[in-house]
Amino acid sequence: MKLNATQLKEIEENGYVILPDCFSNEEVNNLRKAMTTIFKEKTEANIIEKSSGVVRTAMGLHLRSKIFDDLTRHPKFFEPACQIRGHNLYIQQTKINVKAAFTGEVWQWHYDFATHFGEDGVPKPLALNLHVFFDKVTEFNGPLFFIPKSHKYGSAPSKLDTVTTNYPLWVVDQQNVKTLVKENGIVSAHGKAGTVVIFVDNLVHGSAQNMSPMDRAIFSVILNPCDNAQTKFARPEYKHGRDFKPIKASSYKSLLI
Ligand code: SIN
Ligand code: MN
Repeated sequence: MKLNATQLKEIEENGYVILPDCFSNEEVNNLRKAMTTIFKEKTEANIIEKSSGVVRTAMGLHLRSKIFDDLTRHPKFFEPACQIRGHNLYIQQTKINVKAAFTGEVWQWHYDFATHFGEDGVPKPLALNLHVFFDKVTEFNGPLFFIPKSHKYGSAPSKLDTVTTNYPLWVVDQQNVKTLVKENGIVSAHGKAGTVVIFVDNLVHGSAQNMSPMDRAIFSVILNPCDNAQTKFARPEYKHGRDFKPIKASSYKSLLI
């Protein structure tokens, strides 16, 4: 799946692009079944939400399940990523972020590069975060909020929050968020299950609590250029992949078996 010139320009200008109807209902159903199996595993790679006791984030999925490994390398992710960042990409991280109905908690305002740099010593903000929705995401069930163009300001100062996001997250302070939003507004990324969202490493984003009765699960893969690999190795492999060889695309049909 190739991005057209308008979509490539959107990524460059706004820092994100939303691509509806990428994966079919059948593909999403197969992935959701695999998600249920993954969530039952007792492993530290399943991070539990403090308030509800349910899985909030399941990580290292390409290392744990064939269908998620295939999804990670799927041409619908891999080809756009190659158009944007070239062909030599490794899998930095895979995860499913859930916001359970009624209880799903906030992700504070942040941009991913602050963690990639601060925790893993990734040199430059070149990683791409590629999402696929496993549920319909609406304005009500905790969609991601983006500040368009915020990546153009470089890396906003961040501080380490070890309290409010269930795991340590480098967050952007409110004064900076205020300034960025005043200039560029906020958008929410919503769409049907099977929608893909791609965004860049310096884009400021977050998401609010899910007080609706609808669950919200989103799969995320972070692909990073091989020559921009991590230089610090404090975090476990399920948080930052250690295989720095360029990946190859899986087959278009791999999720339908
Ligand atoms: C993230 O920024 O990694 C997660 C945000 C979300 O899933 O709402
Ligand atoms: Mn993030």
